[in-house]
Amino acid sequence: MAHTKRPQVAVYPGTFDPITNGHIDIIGRALRLFEHVVVAVAPNPTKAPLFDANERLNMIFHATKQFKNLSVETFEGLLVHEMKRRGAIAIVRGIRAVSDFEYEFQMALMNRKLDNNVETVFLMPSEEYTYLSSSLIKEVASYGGEIADLVPEIVSEKIAQKLALKKSQGKT
Ligand code: COA
Repeated sequence: MAHTKRPQVAVYPGTFDPITNGHIDIIGRALRLFEHVVVAVAPNPTKAPLFDANERLNMIFHATKQFKNLSVETFEGLLVHEMKRRGAIAIVRGIRAVSDFEYEFQMALMNRKLDNNVETVFLMPSEEYTYLSSSLIKEVASYGGEIADLVPEIVSEKIAQKLALKKSQGKT
């Protein structure tokens, strides 16, 4: 009987509010290891995101057009349930510095506790992106700092639009 080989799928979850060049770097690395990568956008309302989940999804679509074997989705609920639904074998997370490790270690073990089949793979972004975070990007942009080298072009545009809108509504 012929066996059909299932593609090795990994899920790269996060809030991505917004996606940065550091995230893109991790996506590229993950695609070298896995046959298919799903970028899974968590709504994460507790983080009070600047962009809603659909806006974040659209920015990621635009910014990752160069990649094959990549899909972008939002997900609700537990990550391990999303993994099972997708038949994914691994969670990809980026580690930028030692300070990321404790939280990531905790999440990896909790996910394994929830589903013993789930493995987490940690990848290091290129060193030029180790200081990046979505919050810092938003903060720098809100004070008029230059972010063009740090995020995809679509993100620079959408942040500028969002900040202008907020300003016109008297929210900043
Ligand atoms: N480049 C740039 N920034 C990076 C980065 C990289 N390579 N890697 C991480 N970051 C930044 C993110 O931008 C983010 O910055 P911010 O805090 O300023 O927004 C921060 O590091 C980490 O956030 P993120 O990667 O978005 O992860 P998160 O910690 O917000 O989200 C989820 C974690 C979504 C994976 C987690 O909450 C989850 O799995 N939720 C689903 C519910 C669930 O299953 N919970 C149980 C988990 S054990």
